Amino acid sequence: MKVAVIGTGYVGLATGISLAFLGHQVNCIDIAAGKIELLRQGKLPIFEPGLEELFHKAKPNLHFSTSYREGLVDSDVIFLAVGTPANVDGSPNLKYLFSAVDETIACLRNREGLTVLVNKSTVPVGTADQILERVNSASLHSSVTIASNPEFLSQGRVVSDTLYPERIVVGGNERAIHVLQELYAPIISQTFISPEQTPRPETTKGATFISVDTRSAELAKYAANAFLAMKISFINEMANVCDRVGADVTKVAMVIGKDPRIGSSFLQAGIGYGGSCFPKDTRALQFIADTIDYDFKLLSAVIEVNNNQKYRIIEKLREEIGTLYGKKIAVLGLTFKPGTDDLREAPSIPIVNALLSEGAEVYVHDPIAIDTARAILPRTVHFKHQLSDVLLDAEAALLITEWPEYLNLKAEHLISVMRRPLFIDGRNALNAGTMNGIEYIGFGLGDRIGSKPLHLV
Ligand SMILES: NC(=O)c1ccc[n+]([C@@H]2O[C@H](COP(=O)([O-])OP(=O)(O)OC[C@H]3O[C@@H](n4cnc5c(N)ncnc54)[C@H](O)[C@@H]3O)[C@@H](O)[C@H]2O)c1
Repeated sequence: MKVAVIGTGYVGLATGISLAFLGHQVNCIDIAAGKIELLRQGKLPIFEPGLEELFHKAKPNLHFSTSYREGLVDSDVIFLAVGTPANVDGSPNLKYLFSAVDETIACLRNREGLTVLVNKSTVPVGTADQILERVNSASLHSSVTIASNPEFLSQGRVVSDTLYPERIVVGGNERAIHVLQELYAPIISQTFISPEQTPRPETTKGATFISVDTRSAELAKYAANAFLAMKISFINEMANVCDRVGADVTKVAMVIGKDPRIGSSFLQAGIGYGGSCFPKDTRALQFIADTIDYDFKLLSAVIEVNNNQKYRIIEKLREEIGTLYGKKIAVLGLTFKPGTDDLREAPSIPIVNALLSEGAEVYVHDPIAIDTARAILPRTVHFKHQLSDVLLDAEAALLITEWPEYLNLKAEHLISVMRRPLFIDGRNALNAGTMNGIEYIGFGLGDRIGSKPLHLV
């Protein structure tokens, strides 16, 4: 099929490159000329494990352009995958989406034939209907069908999530569903040969294709992110309770996670969620609820817990070393999670700013994002490419992102290089048992109270 993808961010590139890898002819369009130039030169503007290999294999079927007219030529299916960032009031900013829709309509004006216009961006309920209104009022010769195809990929694993998803959700009429079923057929039935760097998981037998109405598809995306955010805030609240009663949240999580009704994922306590999706999507759902006069109490609590949780690491640090003024603090990891170069709404940003505001000397390291971080964090931060430079003579190390290289840190090494071997693990990612000889503090590990008797009744 001939496919166009508008927007070459994490979602647009994952979609475009994967579909080209599966044999479709794909035109990728973006208004960011720099990105398109890089892609034309065969370079990726984002870091994602396994994407380079897929890009290389898909190249013969890929074309990049800043021009809608050039990019939309003869497309059977057009995907919208532009950003929908949050406005200051939490509402999703749809200006990029509607600008892309209007440009698309202008290009379809003199065309005959059938096109399916598919929205992949995360948008409020009713957006597909608004797109349809714009299409209808343009009185096109061609027949355009609108579909909603929310994206559930997770940064750091976009290749795997795109090639081996558990489900593909499509909202739209029969025709849209039929076309998208055909487009995604190799993924639904897993009939393609896997790329070497991203092999098919043994458990993947195929993807469930779920067809619904556009409103349910749109809301399902927010529901999924809000639910996952809720799991994170829930386990963080449990960690805070564990800290006070001397229980171990990792054991509590293991026990409840074995229950298939609960599931074990997203139950790792720590400094909370960040990134380009959970914070904005939870706020957007809260905004949607407000506009329909619905008081979504649970969601408000999820957001509030998460906002507070990132500062718990500073409280823990203060409890150990008192004033932070003039003290060298090592910050390990800046991206909102490992495997991505994305710093959008990363917890590291407010944490570093809070450390600075208390007068700490902040040394930061990240394996991927140090140069990007220079443009975002204050200039008083010490940006280091070498991990040894941040750990040397530090009074404490804060683990913010669980990059693999931090997980292999040895207690003896920390003891030999740090002024005080105090390690606060913001992701409960290290194995506390291997940290003998250092002061290792996690979230809700039950080690601060020890065996003191608790009298709650
Ligand atoms: N990043 C994720 O993990 C993820 C996961 C699921 C869903 N989503 C949703 O998918 C959408 C895209 O997210 P992303 O992370 O890929 O965004 P992104 O910011 O990485 O990329 C968006 C791209 O759209 C381009 N763009 C903006 N306006 C345009 C226009 N009018 N025409 C052409 N290109 C335009 C931008 O230049 C940018 O390259 C958002 O709605 C997001 O909520 C993201």
